[in-house]
Amino acid sequence: MKSSASGKIILFGEHAAVYSRPALAVPVTQIHVDVEVLDSPRQGIWIDAPGIDLHAELNSLPDNHPVGSVILKVFSTLGLPSPTGRRAGDEGGLDISIASTIPVAAGLGSGAAVSVALIRALASHLSNPLSDEQVNNLAFEIEKLHHGTPSGIDNTVITYQKPVYFIKDKPLETFKVGKPFTIVIGDTGIPAPTKESVGDVRRLRMRDLCNVENIFNEIAQIALIGRRSIESAKPEQLGELMDQNHAYLQALTVSSPELDNLVEAARKAGALGAKLSGSGRGGNMIALVDQPKAESVAGALIAAGAKRTIITEIS
Ligand code: MEV
Repeated sequence: MKSSASGKIILFGEHAAVYSRPALAVPVTQIHVDVEVLDSPRQGIWIDAPGIDLHAELNSLPDNHPVGSVILKVFSTLGLPSPTGRRAGDEGGLDISIASTIPVAAGLGSGAAVSVALIRALASHLSNPLSDEQVNNLAFEIEKLHHGTPSGIDNTVITYQKPVYFIKDKPLETFKVGKPFTIVIGDTGIPAPTKESVGDVRRLRMRDLCNVENIFNEIAQIALIGRRSIESAKPEQLGELMDQNHAYLQALTVSSPELDNLVEAARKAGALGAKLSGSGRGGNMIALVDQPKAESVAGALIAAGAKRTIITEIS
């Protein structure tokens, strides 16, 4: 059984999303995780994930391992006996292969994409395909194990593979893109765990509640206006909103010199606006561009130190 899940970018609203403000996220189909689950004559559940240098049997993984915990959760959700309880003499096992082109800890949803693809492939292989809602709920459980207090935006956009207007704990809202637009993604190459920056914003909020709440409210407005601009086929308005959102993320201390440098390089090369995307500190930034300028903005990002770029059309 095979399943794929693509990466994502957050257009507006990261961090504020954790505090129930709206955020916009869209899938990025050029990068994806592909999972295959096969019956195997050897016992045990063997995982092969070269991207994270993992070649191991489930029982040898530490507790709460990101991949091991997905497998255990799928078995328990389906009401099946825990696979860790299998004894010598049990018949056969499973081989699970995980291949990913999504950079890890880069704000592009790699962890949630592994969870979503693995949940779908494994549940289907075990003859119990799950609904999107079940997949999303399970993937969120895994996000909580690894990211502290996530909003759930990553697992939601990756499960449903559509542009989402996300508000934590509210029913899913997808939205339509009135006119396609082009985004250049630039990778600082610096891994940045979500848990750390989300924790730092939590501490900043405790120290300076009023100011940080005001920033979240401003970001919420940006996300709302951004959605309207996209739906009403005026994506060119997103550039200024991105610049504003980036300034608020700087004020939340989640940018970095490397991100600021790439954001500035994109603007200088003619992007209509740019911001960090995801949890920040490292990872990726995004720039809105007129399609004919996409290659030259991508080139300017590489010249400014980006480790890789992706040009993607949001439609
Ligand atoms: C991470 O992709 C986005 C954050 O807002 C965290 C979250 O919403 O869970 C930084």
